[in-house]
Amino acid sequence: MLKTIEWKNGCLKFLDQTKLPAEEVYQETADFREVAQAIKRLSIRGAPLIGVSAAYALCLGAQEAEKRFPENYFDFLDQVDNTLRHTRPTAVNLFWALDRMREVWSKGKLKGESMQTINLQLIREAQAIENEDREINQAIARLGSQLIQTGETILTHCNAGALACGAWGTALGAIYWASVKDNKKISVLADETRPLLQGARLTTFELLKNRVPTTLICDNMAGFFMAQGKVDRVIVGADRIALNGDVANKIGTYSLAVLAFHHSIPFHVAAPLSTVDDKIFTGEEIPIEERGKEEVICWGERQIAPFEVGVRNPAFDVTPNQLITSIITEKGILYPPFIDKLKKLKKGDG
Ligand code: MRU
Repeated sequence: MLKTIEWKNGCLKFLDQTKLPAEEVYQETADFREVAQAIKRLSIRGAPLIGVSAAYALCLGAQEAEKRFPENYFDFLDQVDNTLRHTRPTAVNLFWALDRMREVWSKGKLKGESMQTINLQLIREAQAIENEDREINQAIARLGSQLIQTGETILTHCNAGALACGAWGTALGAIYWASVKDNKKISVLADETRPLLQGARLTTFELLKNRVPTTLICDNMAGFFMAQGKVDRVIVGADRIALNGDVANKIGTYSLAVLAFHHSIPFHVAAPLSTVDDKIFTGEEIPIEERGKEEVICWGERQIAPFEVGVRNPAFDVTPNQLITSIITEKGILYPPFIDKLKKLKKGDG
């Protein structure tokens, strides 16, 4: 499994995912601004990994605050937190991780602890977030595998694999576990995922590395294969889940869910509870990131449409809970209606 990020001697080393699969290039930095930029341009991506990386970026900011602005240590931390919160709006894991970090430094402030002590505690918290994510991934993978039968073809969209998390992944975690650990003979149809091609560039790359038989298709081919009876189930990840079970995930997920519903194909969402936003009740409240027009006008380096054309580029869409067969979390597989179960699990008494 490729290591996506590593905290090393006060620096964050991360894999630049925009260069995959052609090159495996790592970047190392002690500057939180570079991590913020990396998250914005999708060098670091995927909801859980964005959360873990933002936590480490906060640690980098705290180191800088101690060295350069000891007088304004807490104000500087506030600014770092604010910069990180403005990188990507949809994946709630970013805000969830930064809230956890804020709790650490706010407590330190109240107790009058030294900057050194607080910085150490921040690193420990970021490491805890990373380690927990690894364990959560395993739990989701193991549970998700139970849904998969030998002989099945599973369709997935975007990349919800090890590259998007600390380890294993969520949707791809379930697929790996079924194939590698539970020895089920399965195959995968991977959507290419326009415009940034996470499915083509990252999902096929990861699956082939793990020797899972994989076929790449363009996004507009899913219906064709479903109508032919070539898809047994769909499993995707999530960026934010509302309490009623509405799910924001990579643009195109909603269309897939509608297609799956029409063809009576089970549609599963695999996600950690950190992706559940217990402050919102429906998907309508989820902020959807709109990205630059150049991502649609260009195919990699190549221009494929006139620059003057109007372009819309929402990075995510919302799948209503009615189209979702189950949500696979680390605490169990949930079936509709989701609201009370998600509330209970988020409260920690599930
Ligand atoms: O824009 P991206 O590549 O960050 O979008 C990623 C996704 O939509 C994933 O499906 C989601 O974050 C879940 S990753 C376990």
